[in-house]
Amino acid sequence: MKRFLIQTFGCQMNVHDSRRIEEVLAADGYAPTDQPELADLILFNTCSVREKAEHKLRSAVGTFRPLKRQRPDTVLAVAGCMAQEHGEALLEELDLVDVLIGPDNIPELPALVRSVQGGAPPLARTVFDLDDPSFLHATPRTGQREVCSFVTVMKGCDERCSFCIVPHTRGAERYRPADDIVAEVAALVAGGVREITLLGQTVNSWHEPGQQSHDDESQFPALLRRIATEVPGLLRLRYTSPHPRHVTPSLVAAHRELEVLPAHVHLPVQSGSDRLLKRMIRRYRRADYVERARALQGARPGFTLSTDIIVGFPGETEQDFLQTLTLVEEVGFVSAFCFKYSPRPYTPALKLGDDVSEEVKSERLSRLFEQVERQQQAHLDALVGTRTRVLFEGPSKQSPVAELPAAATARFSGRSDRHDIVHVDVPAGFDLTGHVLEARVTHANRHSLVGELTAAPPEEARAPAVEELAGRTRLPVLGS
Ligand code: 5AD
Repeated sequence: MKRFLIQTFGCQMNVHDSRRIEEVLAADGYAPTDQPELADLILFNTCSVREKAEHKLRSAVGTFRPLKRQRPDTVLAVAGCMAQEHGEALLEELDLVDVLIGPDNIPELPALVRSVQGGAPPLARTVFDLDDPSFLHATPRTGQREVCSFVTVMKGCDERCSFCIVPHTRGAERYRPADDIVAEVAALVAGGVREITLLGQTVNSWHEPGQQSHDDESQFPALLRRIATEVPGLLRLRYTSPHPRHVTPSLVAAHRELEVLPAHVHLPVQSGSDRLLKRMIRRYRRADYVERARALQGARPGFTLSTDIIVGFPGETEQDFLQTLTLVEEVGFVSAFCFKYSPRPYTPALKLGDDVSEEVKSERLSRLFEQVERQQQAHLDALVGTRTRVLFEGPSKQSPVAELPAAATARFSGRSDRHDIVHVDVPAGFDLTGHVLEARVTHANRHSLVGELTAAPPEEARAPAVEELAGRTRLPVLGS
């Protein structure tokens, strides 16, 4: 039996691609392993959005030097954005690597590995499928309860945000036909999936392929409506990442009308300064963003927003940064991913230099973190005492609270409609995975909520046999 091990870096798109890579390998007779010394193929699915991600990859590959010396037949492969970005140059730089494969070439991986195993020199395959785009299908994992799954609706990016390497590493926008998307969602839901996240670099720019125009801004909302209507068993429908430019009245209406959409959207803003938004080529102004955020927040009671922010973009002054801080407050983000600007090859911003010092970037980043943390805590604290619906994703990584006898309870966690993490303790012998249940929030942690079910767990959530559960949950062992 051939075995593979995959290490994934970066975004959800990469997490999703790694699953497709697993499927392609499984179809070729591979089985997964988590022990490198047993693997015939070790693959790194890489990210190049910031330089730090590239450093991580280089050092991760380096850790396999002793293994490669001992077992030279182990094939090392690099997939994803770094493969696409560097192409063959990466093979020269990383002498341990045998195969490079771009995001659009995943199906060719087994053949490339075979060639290398047959004595071929290191091989690179990084060609975009621009003329005839393919979208690999997600299949439900067998033998494992999967509550949440991703479905790709578009790939590539036609935006030209001046800081971003993604248009270079993922190519031009390509869209998947609605029929295929709906069929994949339906198949996943039939297989037990409860929550789908639609994926795309600018997911809400989706439109039916072949229709050249972006004029009809109701296309993505229409896709959401179609999924909601045609797949009634779906409990939650998320999408990531939307571009603020495509947050239109029809998308807001979809949030108002479709219960399957959560009361939360992650909407990257990047900066609160108009001067910088222009230099970033974001194609909206602060006021446009605020207006769209307000429209979404008005669609549902308690609607929350999270965002991405870059500090230290070329030319960012203290004044610009203060604009970002005030925007965070004005919009009321409940969380944010915050990054220091990292100059990337092939990006328009390269010619702007990198004139904000590392110290200033660090200092702004920590002020921003503080502001975001404060708002996140205030948001979570305000929820104590309220009731919320939770879709449980599985056993919690946290232990049940100390006062309860350990063996009598198990802790499950899931997400509320607003995407807040909620932990709940239930009597041992229940498995809440995949159930939507109401919880009363009893406590706010730093980044999550603790609650209790408002009714006894339903009989359908009773685990068939404790032994069966024990293999994949953290059920405490009696007497420990
Ligand atoms: N430097 C820092 N952060 C970046 N991002 C994208 N490119 C860069 C860069 N060059 C951030 C943006 C984006 C997120 C995925 O990564 O905030 O939304």
